[in-house]
Amino acid sequence: MQTALRTALLTLLLATAAVHAAPSVPKAGPADQEWKLGKALPHPADNAATPARVALGKALFFDPRLSGNGTVSCASCHHPGLGWSDGQKKSIGINGQRLDRAAPTIVNVAFNTQFMWDGRARSLEDQATGPLASPQEMSTDFQHMKLMLASLEGYRTMFAAAYPGEAVSERTVAKALAAFQRTVVSRDSRFDQWLGGKRGAITQQEYRGYQLFKGKANCAACHSGPNFTDNGFHNIGVAQGGHEDVGRYKLRALPSMKGAFKTPTLRDVALTAPYFRDGSAATLREVVEHYNAGGAQPAPANLSPEVRPLQLTPAEVDDLVAFMKTLTGRQKPVTVPVLPQ
Ligand code: HEC
Ligand code: HEC
Repeated sequence: MQTALRTALLTLLLATAAVHAAPSVPKAGPADQEWKLGKALPHPADNAATPARVALGKALFFDPRLSGNGTVSCASCHHPGLGWSDGQKKSIGINGQRLDRAAPTIVNVAFNTQFMWDGRARSLEDQATGPLASPQEMSTDFQHMKLMLASLEGYRTMFAAAYPGEAVSERTVAKALAAFQRTVVSRDSRFDQWLGGKRGAITQQEYRGYQLFKGKANCAACHSGPNFTDNGFHNIGVAQGGHEDVGRYKLRALPSMKGAFKTPTLRDVALTAPYFRDGSAATLREVVEHYNAGGAQPAPANLSPEVRPLQLTPAEVDDLVAFMKTLTGRQKPVTVPVLPQ
């Protein structure tokens, strides 16, 4: 009897020791909350995301009839099934034309202050007419677009509900597209759950990756704040491969801006391969290896001082990749809207 009791006690002690031996992920502290995405969706005063505006914007976003030949919609290159991007190194526009750059995700654009790889659009409202007007992207004939929209009973009703008293115009189309895009939000990722106090939401390895991200790997120098971007422009030494893309320099002719591009969000990044503005990195591992080497060699003269050889071990590279995969938000099924006829 006594032996049995002793064995039981011993087993209990060993079990407790085992629990204590497995180190657990620390709880998120106050300093970690700088990564927390706010509940409120920022929007301009004259374009709050009312349900009528979002519904209209969603229909327009998925409607290929906006394009010059009725074949391309915004969703062709910002597809919900491909992380609101297109899986291409460089996007393919109307009549199969290859664009010069990769399509960024539109996830969490509500939280950004800079739009496009070179920051040439000042707001989402300002951005939306760009791809429509572009002869490479949608090649929209605005006159025809307005007639088409006004001729459809369904769209007339939707515009009247969304923007009462305003005409069916490029302006209201752009506003509705912006209102819809602001509702495309990535949140409640495992990392967010960990920030919210759920220790077990991320693994030891992912937690190590987070520490490297802020520390030795220096990623947080640019991918900072709730949307993992400083809304700044940097030359991170992506190889130019023959055809030079000057990036931000086109708008700001400063030496440091040559080949500088906007820091993209990393939320949902596991869903949006390939990476970089030219799709030159096929996987997240390739991205980390790019930074680990201090960018492509020879380095450009104006390489950001924040990019330098990192001396990460292969295991540390894995940890960083694992961390980025915790940034995938809870995926809600997206229904393609029934388009007004
Ligand atoms: C043919 C492919 C294609 C189509 C169609 C397209 N886009 Fe894009 N989109 C891109 C590319 C490529 C970029 C980046 C271009 C650049 O920065 O030079 C981009 C950038 C954007 C951005 C900026 C995102 C950011 O984080 O800076 C937004 C917003 C956007 N597109 C919305 C739209 C909307 C709205 C439509 C429909 C009216 C649309 N796109 C149609 C390919 C496309
Ligand atoms: C000096 C600022 C800076 C630093 C430091 C930095 N990044 Fe970036 N990151 C950028 C910019 C700018 C781009 C886009 C550049 C381009 O495409 O030319 C980018 C692109 C990326 C992309 C591709 C995203 C996409 O949608 O294509 C990933 C992933 C990424 N960075 C992860 C990291 C990681 C991980 C680290 C740390 C090892 C890091 N970054 C360090 C500025 C930075």
